[in-house]
Amino acid sequence: MRVLVAGATGLVGSALLPLLRARGHHVTAMVRDGSRTAEADEVVVADALDPVAVRLALRAARADVVVHQLTALRQMSADAMETTARLRTEGTANLITAAREAGTRKLVVQSIAFATAPLGGPVLDEDAPLHLDAPDPSWARTVQAVAELERLVLGTPDIAGTILRYGTLFGARTQYDPEGPFGARVGRGRMPLPEDAVGVTSFLHVDDAATAALSAVDSEVTGVFNIADDDPAEGAAWLPEYARMLGAPEPRVLDAEMAQRVLGWFTNHQLTAMRGASTDRARERLGWKPSVSWRRGLASG
Ligand SMILES: NC(=O)c1ccc[n+]([C@@H]2O[C@H](COP(=O)([O-])OP(=O)(O)OC[C@H]3O[C@@H](n4cnc5c(N)ncnc54)[C@H](OP(=O)(O)O)[C@@H]3O)[C@@H](O)[C@H]2O)c1
Repeated sequence: MRVLVAGATGLVGSALLPLLRARGHHVTAMVRDGSRTAEADEVVVADALDPVAVRLALRAARADVVVHQLTALRQMSADAMETTARLRTEGTANLITAAREAGTRKLVVQSIAFATAPLGGPVLDEDAPLHLDAPDPSWARTVQAVAELERLVLGTPDIAGTILRYGTLFGARTQYDPEGPFGARVGRGRMPLPEDAVGVTSFLHVDDAATAALSAVDSEVTGVFNIADDDPAEGAAWLPEYARMLGAPEPRVLDAEMAQRVLGWFTNHQLTAMRGASTDRARERLGWKPSVSWRRGLASG
């Protein structure tokens, strides 16, 4: 098949290109900087927020399947969250309009597994409600953009949609790389643990995110799938274990008020309230399974 990957230079996108080509697909990389090489059969240049450029790119690619791996999260700034929200709403709408015009049959789109409301659990499936009314405005905006992305993709007439809700990514060049922002903080003993760290994280290695996208491209099955490792873990379990893997001191335990102040809203939420993600649906219907758990890979980059 002809497959276009938007976000081909990203962590997941660049891991996916060789997998698609090894399966015999003809791969077009959509990049915004033509000087950046991407391991693909063809390269088209477009900023995902420029609807005209996206239409021209997709018209040239004539893709059967469009894979959307666009985020701005690598920058880890407040701006990056807002840009990512725009990529999820405007960027997705641009891709869909262009894909319909170009005769694309299927969309495979990156979403997140940890946008669920912290109700029930500790591990939730794809039918759990999203945290649309999160008390933190930046997170509420993120979750609302995720909901809009999923609504747009699943509601597109004539094009089949598969949503891959990725767990918290780890692996080389992610936040959890020992050299990445989170890893370095843990490694220096600067990531404290809230006293009630019962929040559950479902991690996902970048390479497993890519194999899930490959499964989705090749499958006739559509819908929403959580994609994560087999080992959802409470903050009280994974953070001290991660510190040990890095040879760092045991995380200092803080009371709830101090933890909120030191960690910021999102990390405190992750460690105290977040729910994990069940991957039964992806195993049963997509035939995908993860190859590595955070226990083996989290500290290895
Ligand atoms: N989901 C999570 O768990 C989570 C949460 C927070 C942070 N993170 C971090 O985010 C990263 C996630 O990896 P990823 O592969 O999803 O993202 P990524 O490595 O940031 O890749 C995003 C892709 O989108 C492209 N892109 C961004 N803006 C674009 C635009 N306007 N037009 C066209 N293309 C655009 C990028 O192109 P360029 O190469 O040109 O920029 C890149 O190819 C990791 O570093 C992870 O630690 C992840």
